Amino acid sequence: MNELIIRQPDDWHVHLRDGDMLAAAAPFTARQCGRAIVMPNLVPPVVTVDEAHAYRQRILAAVPAETGFEPLMTLYLTEQTTVAELARAAENPYIHAVKLYPAGATTNSDRGVRDPLAIDPLLAELARTGLPLLVHGEVVDPQVDIFDREARFIEQVLVPIRQRFPELRIVMEHITTEDAVAFIRTQEDGVGATITAHHLLYNRNAMLVGGIRPHYYCLPVLKRERHRQALLTAATSGDPRFFMGTDSAPHTQGAKESSCGCAGAFTAYAALELYAEAFDQVGKLNMLEAFTSVNGPNFYGLPLNESRVRLTRHPQSVPDYFEVGAAERLIPLRAGETLSWQAVRL
Ligand code: DOR
Ligand code: ZN
Repeated sequence: MNELIIRQPDDWHVHLRDGDMLAAAAPFTARQCGRAIVMPNLVPPVVTVDEAHAYRQRILAAVPAETGFEPLMTLYLTEQTTVAELARAAENPYIHAVKLYPAGATTNSDRGVRDPLAIDPLLAELARTGLPLLVHGEVVDPQVDIFDREARFIEQVLVPIRQRFPELRIVMEHITTEDAVAFIRTQEDGVGATITAHHLLYNRNAMLVGGIRPHYYCLPVLKRERHRQALLTAATSGDPRFFMGTDSAPHTQGAKESSCGCAGAFTAYAALELYAEAFDQVGKLNMLEAFTSVNGPNFYGLPLNESRVRLTRHPQSVPDYFEVGAAERLIPLRAGETLSWQAVRL
């Protein structure tokens, strides 16, 4: 297959940032995706409905109006979040989910929740209202090996939350292991998972063999090949519980190429091309549209996009960097290399 036409995708998990980085990064998402679930881990985080509104306005001002891009806003759950604020969020047409970061798990998560099993009133309110809980699924216990943190989170946190709140709608974000795939498959309605393009394309060798490659460092960290294969099988299966979420997470070049580099891969500039490459690897391009453009809206109860995108097998080179403001650079994943596919909106 050298060409396919699919419905316009949506990105169900993206970091658009703020200020100069928002201006640099958000237009890429807006050109490709109809909508995107926008992560709230700004500094300071987006914790109230009013803050989410203001952030939405900044995003709309940063993207070309003719794209018609719709940011779907989220709130950052803290230990100070109130039931009343969640009730307000659930009534608000622009807010589509609430994000749970275990405190210390990742970038800008220090205002997150120390014990996700100690916020029952908040989870009960989400279950009551139907507002989905999006989870960064890693434990933060320093005793737990970083490669095991996702599997441990499932046992220690997700299973008990599911038992206590069977009605709560949950998206396990950016899953990276066969354990997560197996867990999601055992769940009934109301539980889904996003999968990034980089976790479908790469295992941890990409980050560590022949030198340490900071642009492949993200959280949850890339895992071994067995896990990548499980993710590919899940994403390409057509199972409605799995959908596209790039976790595209731009940082400046200096923040990535550092003795303590930030987690995050910038993929939004070619999200669909990267997913197409992964699906093509296993001969499943016919399953791409379900994953990128159908399963996500169905989970969130939103209409499918009506416009279409043409994907053509056509090599294109990736720039070495994109400008951020006057003085900074953003290095895309695959900088200076080649993409095999090209996506054009129709
Ligand atoms: O790699 C990541 N980057 N993982 C996250 O969970 C957060 C994100 C970011 O905000 O940079
Ligand atoms: Zn993320």
